[in-house]
Amino acid sequence: MSKPLKKAKGGKVRPQLLRGMKDILPQDAPYWDMIRRKARELAESYSFSRVETPLLEARDLFERSIGEHTDIVSKEMFTFTDKGGESIAVRPEWTASACRAYIEHGMVNQPQPVKLWSFFQCFRRERPQAGRYRSFWQADYEVIGDADPVVDAELILILYTFLKELGIQGLVQINSLGTPETRRKYTRGLVEYYKKHARKLCGDCKVRLKKNPLRLLDCKVPECRELVTAAPEIIDFLDDESRKHFMSVLEYLDESEVPYNLNSRLVRGLDYYTRTLFELWPDREGGENIALGGGGRYDGLMKLLGGRDTPACGFAMGVDRVVLEMKEQHITPPRQFQPDVYLAQLGDRAKRRSLKLFNDLRASGVRIIENFSQDGLKEQLGAASDAGVRYTLILGQKEMLDNTILLRDMENGSQEVVAFEKIVGEVKKKLG
Ligand code: HAM
Repeated sequence: MSKPLKKAKGGKVRPQLLRGMKDILPQDAPYWDMIRRKARELAESYSFSRVETPLLEARDLFERSIGEHTDIVSKEMFTFTDKGGESIAVRPEWTASACRAYIEHGMVNQPQPVKLWSFFQCFRRERPQAGRYRSFWQADYEVIGDADPVVDAELILILYTFLKELGIQGLVQINSLGTPETRRKYTRGLVEYYKKHARKLCGDCKVRLKKNPLRLLDCKVPECRELVTAAPEIIDFLDDESRKHFMSVLEYLDESEVPYNLNSRLVRGLDYYTRTLFELWPDREGGENIALGGGGRYDGLMKLLGGRDTPACGFAMGVDRVVLEMKEQHITPPRQFQPDVYLAQLGDRAKRRSLKLFNDLRASGVRIIENFSQDGLKEQLGAASDAGVRYTLILGQKEMLDNTILLRDMENGSQEVVAFEKIVGEVKKKLG
């Protein structure tokens, strides 16, 4: 059992993060801001509307959509019974919530398709390891109400572009699961094949064979991987319509110059998918199986949840993994706020006056910074120089007496005395 409270030296109890959960600290926040900005920019270009849904939903929503026997539902969901006896789940993903919102708010009556996006945190009780956390963030895009293969291709292109514009070259992994009927036939074929080799399977795969045979293809144990190579391939089971749909998606990708790899072993861990499935892996040595994002078509889900029969397709990008990949590839986010002016103050009276001056300059549009906790001029000039500002304003005791302020050009070190009441206008003039 994890212990959120840990005994520190001296017997005091200090709080601790829950196992596998993550804080985003100031040094990492710029990565998140960069990804969030890109997520919004792409959503706006492609006309997605933002939707926020609650972190908590009825447990049954995820059980019905993701599937009872999937790892997410059977092992990884954080669930609890609330004081009213209702069974609640902390969201492990967003697609089910987006569908719930679509049905509940009658979005079926709006012009179709409805394009929704969100940027949010979700929770899965997985075994923590690099790139796999119990709290993580996703940027998710869903197109609801259009069965055209162009939608699948557009979503893949958005995911590919998203990463490319962050500096990551990706390779799309793509497969088709066909219709539920295809999937049933294929699953039967797979079970027949694996039954013949049941003795060689690892413990987990023995359970998968009974409960979720498609996941047999995902096993990382070397003996099981060997069995996968000779297992039947879903492409041979596809019905004509699904085959046509799949070919059409691939043609769109060819036309858009999105590099992809036909991956007949890609099944993904959620039950709601039909037809197109995809993931995006970094296109570099060692990038295999690092899913930076994934998604697919889920034409049957809306009906399964009690809505009208509505085709849909979407994907989610895993923000934490993208940040890791950016670091791996030494991609640094640009500095978001470049100040032009530093306000230095010396002495109590100057400090008191500086508070308002700082706010006046900021409100007039000057990008200004300060450190009112610092009293020495040397330290303040050092901080100004580290921040790369063009000017430092210095308000000391003499300036307080004369009702002036010093304006120092950080490039050549020259200083001029400016009347205090004129300083806002003077700074603005200098900055152009
Ligand atoms: P998913 O493949 O479960 O799909 O998650 C999407 C992405 O979230 C993964 O590719 C990965 O980058 C990230 N991710 C998943 N689990 C973790 C974890 N424990 N720690 C860190 N990152 C993680 C879905 O969630 C579907 N709802 C996607 C979708 C949208 N399908 C249709 N529409």
